[in-house]
Amino acid sequence: MAKYNDIDMQNWRDYPEILTDSLWLIDRRDNSGAHTADYHGNFIPQIPHQLFSRYTKRQDWILDPFLGSGTSLIEAQRLGRNAVGIELQAPVAEAARRRIASEPPNQSQSLVLTGDSRRFNLEEVMAQQGIEHFQFVLLHPPYWDIIHFSDDASDLANAPTLEDFLADLAAVIENSTQHLAKNRYCALVIADKYANSQVVPLGFYAMQLFLERGFLLKAILVKNFGETKAKGKNQGIWRYRALASDFYIFKHEYIFVFKKVKQL
Ligand SMILES: C[S@@+](CC[C@H](N)C(=O)[O-])C[C@H]1O[C@@H](n2cnc3c(N)ncnc32)[C@H](O)[C@@H]1O
Repeated sequence: MAKYNDIDMQNWRDYPEILTDSLWLIDRRDNSGAHTADYHGNFIPQIPHQLFSRYTKRQDWILDPFLGSGTSLIEAQRLGRNAVGIELQAPVAEAARRRIASEPPNQSQSLVLTGDSRRFNLEEVMAQQGIEHFQFVLLHPPYWDIIHFSDDASDLANAPTLEDFLADLAAVIENSTQHLAKNRYCALVIADKYANSQVVPLGFYAMQLFLERGFLLKAILVKNFGETKAKGKNQGIWRYRALASDFYIFKHEYIFVFKKVKQL
């Protein structure tokens, strides 16, 4: 059995739901229980579900420094993993807290904190909770300015330039993964964007931040984008614009998986 998950390799055929290919085509969002698509910019629950099943064990501690609506903590609880989530906006964090509490308990702990993940004092919380290390860190930052989340200057979506966005993301990577146990994993969920008639490859710039800090790259997963309500309605217009021009319509996002092999 791998030391970092609960998969019983004696019975490896018993896990048909666990993906092992790099192309994730998921046609339907899991809308069960407290999960909802209401928070603009949330990810589908299958992303944390897959990653936690593959890279964590029951009772491990998971950290999500961009909690949003709480999708990852709901999944952590369902899988019996402990988790800490940090969200900048207090009302969003409060809504996540309520959502998580409405799910059946599963002998695990969930802690929702409000603050700026670039400089959140995690040591204090860890000492209070008796957490020595995290065994997984899941980062789902704003894809820079694609979605407006708040007017707060500490919000990564409000970084004035690409360089500022990457510097802010680097600060969150350092502040969160310094508490990741050695030989454990973290993942980044992100997509690219267009600006000034060209692709801004946010995914690859962000990947580079991890590589520069000594992480091993374990996977580049490509996941299909579902139709957003707005894009779905305007599908014809987008196709017309793409055909009349020289670009392709984004239909994918990335999940990068890294292994921490040395202390930052
Ligand atoms: C892409 S969303 C995450 C969505 C989440 N995975 C979900 O399923 O709901 C990014 C979140 O990061 C928050 N955020 C932005 N800057 C932040 C910062 N400096 N510290 C903590 N949270 C931040 C935003 O308010 C937003 O809720």
